[in-house]
Amino acid sequence: MTSHSAQVSQSRPFYAHHAQAYDLLVTDPVEPWVEAVHEQLVVAGSPTAAVLDAGCGTGRHAAALSAMGHRVDLADAAMDLLRQAVARCPEAHAFHVDLCAMDIGSVYQAVTCRGVLNDIIEDADRDAALRSLASALRPQGLLLLDVREVHGSRERANGTPRRRTVQLQPDAQLDFTSTVTWNSGLLHVHEQYALNAAAQQAPQVTAYDFVMRPWSQEELIHRLSAAGFQDIVIRPGVGRTTPDRLFVIAVR
Ligand SMILES: C[S@@+](CC[C@H](N)C(=O)[O-])C[C@H]1O[C@@H](n2cnc3c(N)ncnc32)[C@H](O)[C@@H]1O
Repeated sequence: MTSHSAQVSQSRPFYAHHAQAYDLLVTDPVEPWVEAVHEQLVVAGSPTAAVLDAGCGTGRHAAALSAMGHRVDLADAAMDLLRQAVARCPEAHAFHVDLCAMDIGSVYQAVTCRGVLNDIIEDADRDAALRSLASALRPQGLLLLDVREVHGSRERANGTPRRRTVQLQPDAQLDFTSTVTWNSGLLHVHEQYALNAAAQQAPQVTAYDFVMRPWSQEELIHRLSAAGFQDIVIRPGVGRTTPDRLFVIAVR
């Protein structure tokens, strides 16, 4: 795993040390995304498609797409999240890979990639990831993306801490605080994790800083075209409560 984003995937506590809290912290409903994806596949004539969920996380969306009749495989750089996805989708092939260097054959009718490409911040890695996603598709296959949009992301990155508390076990709670600021086209994220366990007197506090890079429509069109995609359609994000996401459809 050589890309910066894959290394972050392996070290960010949200994806690694505290991966068991991921599904407790990320609770937005899966239906809007999977229904939007399914609708696109039906229109493309693939109502039961071979799909790769690239950057699948814990497999919430992969499982829901499988339940709609698609055959969904899994790819992610974060082993602790991928394990949870495999438990949810036992029939799936699982690839523990860096999407910036993935070479698994052109076997899929669709590749879904939700909330992932923002983690890839360097130009060369963004191009490499899009080429990898293209190479996983059969000719005429569909790429379906959810990405952060640059203007909406900038508006939201106001430095206000957002805090959630989740119960991990009867005697352990995790306080998660995320603070996002904007600087030079990048979202700077400061995360703090405070684990409160009954057996310990003081909470165990860890912090983690990383950056994300949202996408403009111009950049999407430019890089997707360079990676060999055509018929690119960019719409507002689906199922998001904030207007800082884009839903992108492109054909290989
Ligand atoms: C915000 S999570 C989204 C997970 C899932 N798609 C969802 O919508 O819940 C981003 C995911 O992308 C993965 N990821 C980021 N960069 C990656 C890379 N270079 N290669 C593989 N996976 C990567 C992370 O490990 C993480 O699982």
